Amino acid sequence: MQAIEAYNLSKIYKGTRVPALDNISLKIDKKQIFTLLGRNGAGKTTFVRICATQLLPTSGTLKVSGYDVISQAEHIRKFISVVPQEGRPLRALTPWDHVYNWLKIRGEEKSIAKIKTEKILERFELIKVKDKPAMNLSGGMKQKILVAMATAVDADLLFLDEPTIGLDPVSRRQVWNLMQDLKKEGKTILLTTHYMDEAEILSDKIVIIDNGKIVKEGNINDLRKIIPQNIRMDISKKNLDIEQLKGYGNVVEIGTDIIRLFTFESNIGELSNLAIKNNISFNISPITLDDIFVYLVGNSIKNN
Ligand SMILES: Nc1ncnc2c1ncn2[C@@H]1O[C@H](COP(=O)(O)OP(=O)(O)O)[C@@H](O)[C@H]1O
Ligand SMILES: [Mg+2]
Repeated sequence: MQAIEAYNLSKIYKGTRVPALDNISLKIDKKQIFTLLGRNGAGKTTFVRICATQLLPTSGTLKVSGYDVISQAEHIRKFISVVPQEGRPLRALTPWDHVYNWLKIRGEEKSIAKIKTEKILERFELIKVKDKPAMNLSGGMKQKILVAMATAVDADLLFLDEPTIGLDPVSRRQVWNLMQDLKKEGKTILLTTHYMDEAEILSDKIVIIDNGKIVKEGNINDLRKIIPQNIRMDISKKNLDIEQLKGYGNVVEIGTDIIRLFTFESNIGELSNLAIKNNISFNISPITLDDIFVYLVGNSIKNN
């Protein structure tokens, strides 16, 4: 059985005409990290909130571990855990209060709740500030409190809606590592993000959504195949004859001084020689999810 099964799922918010979700059908396997990738307003939070039984769909069905989000919501709430996008910790409560009390609410024994709270606060480097009211903590620390709460409880299915928003690079990696560990423990994670690197590093499967519709789905290798040229070469414009490059692939401007050439691996040797001969600096790398994303949704316009 799948962790999530959506059939023709749509959501039109009251007072709006354009669907936030438009006939989405997808399946999420258990014990994987599944990523919904999309720009702001794509419909990611709407999908997560329906899965988490916080919002009702307008039409279609959605099942979480086989249970229907409309008729069996109470049951679903027992085995899921959520990092909500709009969530904020309570100002006067400390990191310890948040995590410890949440664990108790979710049915943990006091002694076990204490151990788990200690462990997760340690892991997110919140232990030193564990007794400080949230209002005195940085934005990143507040965000980590929410992630700590959601991941401390023993839930089979985790919904992480842009969990790394506002985090510094070290904290982001702490969250990534935790997600990878949770997966190893057999948990299923639904992640939403608009960070390409995050999606690329973590995901077993990625679904790109835009304007409430699925644009593309697959693992990172499937997605890479969307752009035929699998190499990108960033080339300094100095001394460069751009016309000559066009024979090697697609050229896009990415800055005042640099152009990016999408090309095939077989051209690398010839291009490098040419660049070196003409004293042009360049940098070669495989295409990233970022390139694919821009290729797919870069030009779409939201029509509401
Ligand atoms: N409560 C709401 N009422 C009306 N429209 C909403 C509401 N929440 C979200 N929307 C709209 O639904 C669309 C999808 O939003 P959302 O799911 O939050 O996207 P994302 O999380 O990908 O940024 C957007 O156009 C947004 O403006
Ligand atoms: Mg969102």
